Formats: sequence, structure tokens, C-alpha cells
Amino acid sequence: MTRTWQAAPSVGHPLTRIEGLDKVTGRARYAGDVPLPGLVHGWVVPATIPCGRVLNLDVEATLAMPGVLAVLHQENAPRLTDIGEGTLFLFQGDRVAHWGAPVALVIADTPERAREAAERMRVDYLPEPPDTVFRPDHPGLYQPEFVNPHNETVTEKGDVEAALAAAAVVVDASYRTPAQHNNAMEPHSTTASWADGRVTVHTSTQYPYAWSRSLAKLFGFAPGTVRVRSEHVGGGFGNKGNPPRPESALAVMAATLVGRPVRVTLTRPQLWPLTGYRTPTAQRLRLGADPDGRLVAVEHRASVQTSRLVEFTEQVAIYSRPMYAADHLRTSHRVVALDVPTPRWMRAPGEAPGSFGLESAMDELAEACGLDPIELRLRNDPTEDPTSGLPFSSRRLAECLRVGADRFGWADRDPRPAVRRDGRWWRGTGVAGAHYPARTVATTAHATALPGDGFEVRVAAADIGTGARTALTQLAADALEVPVTEVRVLVGDSDFGPAQGAGGSTGTASWSWPVVTACRDLAHRLASGEPVPPKGLTSTFDSADAVAARGDFARYGFGAQFAEVAVDVATGEVRVRRLTGVFAVGRVVNPLTARSQLIGGMTMGLSTALLEESIMDGRFGDYVNHNLADYHVATNADVGELDVAFVDDPDDELNPSGVKGLGEIGIVGVPAAIANAVWHATGVRQRDLPITPARAAL
Ligand code: MOS
Repeated sequence: MTRTWQAAPSVGHPLTRIEGLDKVTGRARYAGDVPLPGLVHGWVVPATIPCGRVLNLDVEATLAMPGVLAVLHQENAPRLTDIGEGTLFLFQGDRVAHWGAPVALVIADTPERAREAAERMRVDYLPEPPDTVFRPDHPGLYQPEFVNPHNETVTEKGDVEAALAAAAVVVDASYRTPAQHNNAMEPHSTTASWADGRVTVHTSTQYPYAWSRSLAKLFGFAPGTVRVRSEHVGGGFGNKGNPPRPESALAVMAATLVGRPVRVTLTRPQLWPLTGYRTPTAQRLRLGADPDGRLVAVEHRASVQTSRLVEFTEQVAIYSRPMYAADHLRTSHRVVALDVPTPRWMRAPGEAPGSFGLESAMDELAEACGLDPIELRLRNDPTEDPTSGLPFSSRRLAECLRVGADRFGWADRDPRPAVRRDGRWWRGTGVAGAHYPARTVATTAHATALPGDGFEVRVAAADIGTGARTALTQLAADALEVPVTEVRVLVGDSDFGPAQGAGGSTGTASWSWPVVTACRDLAHRLASGEPVPPKGLTSTFDSADAVAARGDFARYGFGAQFAEVAVDVATGEVRVRRLTGVFAVGRVVNPLTARSQLIGGMTMGLSTALLEESIMDGRFGDYVNHNLADYHVATNADVGELDVAFVDDPDDELNPSGVKGLGEIGIVGVPAAIANAVWHATGVRQRDLPITPARAAL
């Protein structure tokens, strides 16, 4: 057997997606596409009250409908284990926690018949008065023990009150951001089928390994009983993150009951109450500074909502913990449990809304001090993490701001607001900083030299459309010193072992560690003459010990966001003419897919600034604009020029690949950059998102 050893460095070079052709030709199978003999279909019966009890379900009439095989509900559902996840504790009692919560699942031979029977099912309720509307002065707001994902609720350094009282310049402003829904292209779908004592769950998940463990625990199965597969995932943005979403548990429950493969696919309106959304936030920022703009005090308070089922507290104010230097710095959170659907992760949870607060307040401070907003940020760029005191593994915010200023053309900007009128348009520009944590999580991977040519790499990663599979192929090929065409990376199978999911911008950073290490080990074994047996030669690496042994550093990616807007003088319509984003995010494995992640994030930031808002009807506890006709996301027509650049960001304190992750930082700071540009255009501060024509009209 001949192996062609050839150093062909791929990392750092653009490579189109490995599975691109499969996707555009329809060969790639998503969770709802998997064909199975004997497949039947489950349809959710949603609660039509926001709060109360189920008195009676007319199961008899439903069972008599054509094609109906069974109905799962509170009286016949298997008893589940309480794993601390109320959204999965399905049919275990008669309480209705929110509008749209499942009260039954109808199983029928076709999806149409399941749907018809589910929609006709008569359910009697005992409704109770609901509490569904979030407000910053809600009496139910309290300080939770921790905020997501296991961050401190409150951090406090120095004496913020005293420092503010003594400060020469003070900004005290409140900001609001609305509820938003993730809206991945592919809706949630799960197909569960039993064979040989195991249940295989084809589902649309960002976390195949974690979902397999959670579902096993929920049903009281042995840990290896549930195999989760998610070879292709059509977007997630956090909405398919951990924990499993209810439809996956419903499919397993139904397949167990009827002894046949069961598929549960949600319609887009069903995603709204069942799969998660970003909480609305209310934030108060107080900044105190010297006359020369040096911060003495920063306070960031955030309030958010959660449901009755789970205490899920978005970590909004953590944005201010590492960002700007101040001797007196306080951040805090409060949450209120309402009769509403459970909020979940949505791209840059915490940092996306939190950056709107702090980066808007910094712009207000720049105005108050008569300073350029970039200069203000440079003056407050800390040398160590101002909250933890830890050194940064690397911090190149200043470089991002300088490079961005250059690319964007900031130098001759007139700082005065409302002085640029161009026909019917007010023109303005704005800037914001950005950061996102660079985390690395223990993961196991296997690298196999196949008999004959070629290598196979297996890791329970998920490629949610980001190009993760492609980046891992490049990293593996370089570690093996072979061309990328020799390497096949398999992802999306919990049987590949413990692995981090595609979330929190941790994916490539976490998966690459064992992938690269296993590949290097394998290359070494082959080079030293170890023979390849018929089943292949495999090296496996678990990064748990190596990850735990890392030193204490504050690890973040940084960025600078720039926006140019035009505001219609009569209607208040805001158009974003261009965005520039400059990022220091460690090593960039694939500049092509990396840029796609960042322009996608920036577009989502634009969408957040101008369009996205889930509207709660307080009487019903329902987000009423639950479809893509009424919930607006930015389309090509809304997006002007997008410019992305990277600054070189070597960082040895992360992981062997030097990868920081970049799936989320693209959205961070963009809403503030746009709001700051709208102020520069019109002279009116925008403290509530989205900046609708009504809000921007003068
Ligand atoms: Mo991201 S919100 O962790 O998918």
C-alpha cells in the first residue's frame, strides 16, 4: 500500500463546504428526511390557555378519527425522571405553564391525519388569570442564584455609588430590547425508532452527545440506550442547543408507546412557544468618568424574563465585566418567572443585548465628554480583566478599532449630530466594540487510517451550516500531513463519544483539540511503521485532562463594528448603507466560512437593530407574530455593503489550534453601532430596539 505523504497546509486557506454539493442537490438528509419502514407521525395538541389546568381531553373521539393510532397525554404517558428541565417533563400532570405547551400528542399514519385529529381534539381547561407581560418594574423580579451558563449573578468591585457621586461626567440611561425568535431555516424535527434495545433519534440538534445523555436520563434508560444522529442541521442559532427540545422527547415517548418509528415535525408557528427565543431585556447603565473620558465607574443592571418551567436567566450584564477599565464596577441581574414560553439561547446570548446597553452608553459618554467614541474606547482599554483581575490570553480590541477606523474611513468624521442631510436622508456613522468568550470544552475524537488510502475522523460535533465539518477536515488534513481530499470527517452521531456541541462559539475550538491530537498521533504511528489492519488503525484522544490543566486566563475574542446609516427625514425609515466588522478571533481556519459566519452575524445584528421583535399578546400569553410574514428578519434588500476583516491574533493560551470561535461575535455590538449612527444622523438617541420608523421619525 502506498500513502502519498505530502505537506499541503490547508488551514488558513479558503475551502468551499465539503457537503455543499450534497446540500444543493438535495442528497443531504435532514432529520425529517430519513426514510424508515413503518414510520408514523406525531402531532402536538397545544394548550390554548396561558395558565391553568387541563380538566378533560376527549381522547375517545380523537381515537375514532381516520388513521389515528394512539394519543399520548397526562393519563397514559410513561412516568419521566425529573431532570430539572420542566420543558421536557411532558404529560406528567395537569398544569398548563404557557400558551402552546403540549397537552397531548396524536399519533397517526400520516402527518395530515395526525394534524387533523390534533386540531380537532377537544380539551377542557380550568383557566387562571395569567401574568405574561415583562416590565422592568415587575414586582416579581428577583436575583437568581446564578445566570447562564453558570455565571455569577452579581459582580462588584470598589464602590460604584461613591465613584458615581464624585464623577465629573455621568451617563445614566435605560435601554430595552424585545423578545426575538431564532428562526433557523430548518424547523425542529425528530424521528425516533427502536431496534435491538436501542432507540435511534434522528433530530435537528446542535448537541448530539448531550441530547443522547439527557434523553436517556429523562426516560430512565441506561446511558448508551439513546443514539442521537444529526448529520445535517439547517441552522440553529442556539435554538437547537442544550437541553433537548420537547419534540425530541415526544418522539421517543411515542415510539416507545406504539412500537413503531415516530416522527414529530413542528410547523414554524409551533416553534414559537416550544423551542425557545431570546428574552426581552431592560437594562440600566450608569457610567462615571473624568473630564478626559477615563471611566471611574461602570454599573450595568439587567432584567429579563423566564417561564414557570425553568429558571433561565440570560447573562446580559456580563458583557460589561471584561470590556472597559474602571476601578468601580458592578454588574447585576434580575429575572421574573411569567406564564410565558421558556426563553433559550439565541446567538450571543447575553453579549448581544448586553452590548447594546454598554456600547450605546459609551457613545452617550463620548458625546458628554466631547470625545471621539473610538478615542474614548482606546482610553479605557484595560490591560487585565477589570472584573476578575486575570490576564487576557490575548486582547486586540484596540487593533480592531484602529484597523476598522481605517477601513471604514472614520478619520475625517464630523462628530456633530444631525448636520448631514442628503436629499431626504439624514446621514450618520457609528461605532461599537464587541467581545465574546473563547471557551474550549472537553471532547473525544477518533482518527482512523483506512486500509488502502484515506482517513476517517469521527467526532460527535454538529455542523449547523457553519462549515464546521470543512474546518475540521482542514485541521485533520494538516495534522496528518495529507491533502484534504484524503480525509473524511464524520460528525453528528452521539456514538462517537463525549463531545461539545455547536454552541457558545466553542465548537471548532473544542473539537479541533482531540481531532488534531488524534491525527498527529496516528501520523506518528504510521510514520514509525505500524501496520494498518483490515479494520483500520485508530487513534483516539479525549481532551478532558488537557482542557482542565490550562492556566487561568480571561479568554475572549474581540471586535469593532462600524455602521453608516441613512434616516428618511419624513418616515423615519432607517437604511443601513454599510457595515464594517474587524475581528481578533484567534486563528482563522477557513477564511471563506469564517467570513460567512461573521457577515451572517452582522446581518442578524442589523436585523436586531431595525426589525426583529416578537410581540406578546398579554391576554393569551402568545407571541402573535409567530411566522415569517409577521416577524421580520433582514433580507438581501435590507443589507448594504458588508465588509469583514481579521487582525492577526496569535494566542497560545487557548488550545493547540489557537482557535477562539467566531459564530457569535459577529452579532455583538452591531445594534449599538447602528443606534449610535442613527443618533449621529438625527440627533435622537435610540434606546429601545428595534429602531422602527415610528421611533426614528423626528
Ligand atoms: Mo449559540 S446561541 O450558543 O448556538
